[in-house]
Amino acid sequence: MTQTAIKSDQHFRVLIPEDRLQARIQELGQQIRAEYGDEPVTCIGVLKGSFMFMADLVRAIGGPVRCEFLGVSSYQGGTKTTGVVRITEDLTAPIESQHCIIVEDIIDTGLTMDFLVRTLKVRGPKSLKICTLLDKAANREIPLTADFVGFSIPDEFVVGYGLDLGEFYRNLPHIAVYTP
Ligand code: PRP
Repeated sequence: MTQTAIKSDQHFRVLIPEDRLQARIQELGQQIRAEYGDEPVTCIGVLKGSFMFMADLVRAIGGPVRCEFLGVSSYQGGTKTTGVVRITEDLTAPIESQHCIIVEDIIDTGLTMDFLVRTLKVRGPKSLKICTLLDKAANREIPLTADFVGFSIPDEFVVGYGLDLGEFYRNLPHIAVYTP
């Protein structure tokens, strides 16, 4: 077990409880489906953080949805971005002429999303939009606005519902603030 593995409860405070998360995801799904009508949508989940959000969001969108995943990492286990974005897993199929939505758990500095948009645009999607569960706009280093946002959050380190601290806590059903 690593040093950051398990912290005592006093380091965590619930920011967004499970019921609020799930209710908002239903709204996002309906908003997205309404925007695309009956057309197929390719949701591109950004691993690892978005895996739980992606699973709930695609069910809330309903209708014709393709699921793709892109593995990227910039935090490499710490609480600060390294500033270097790496692709660790690529898409399994071309996205040319498809309506695509990048599905993220959080946009913080914007470095990852800027990289993703640049990387995916050159593959010729019919459209490319951004959906993020959490938006930490105060910390932005690259100006960037998501098309679909679950919650705007303050500049605090959050874990749970896919987001990790040293690879743990991704399995929490809610979003919590971690204070060292
Ligand atoms: C997190 C998150 C985003 C990125 C956002 O990924 O999932 O991809 O950081 O931060 P930014 O806006 O400052 O670039 P992380 O590198 O922690 O990898 P993970 O998803 O595997 O946890």
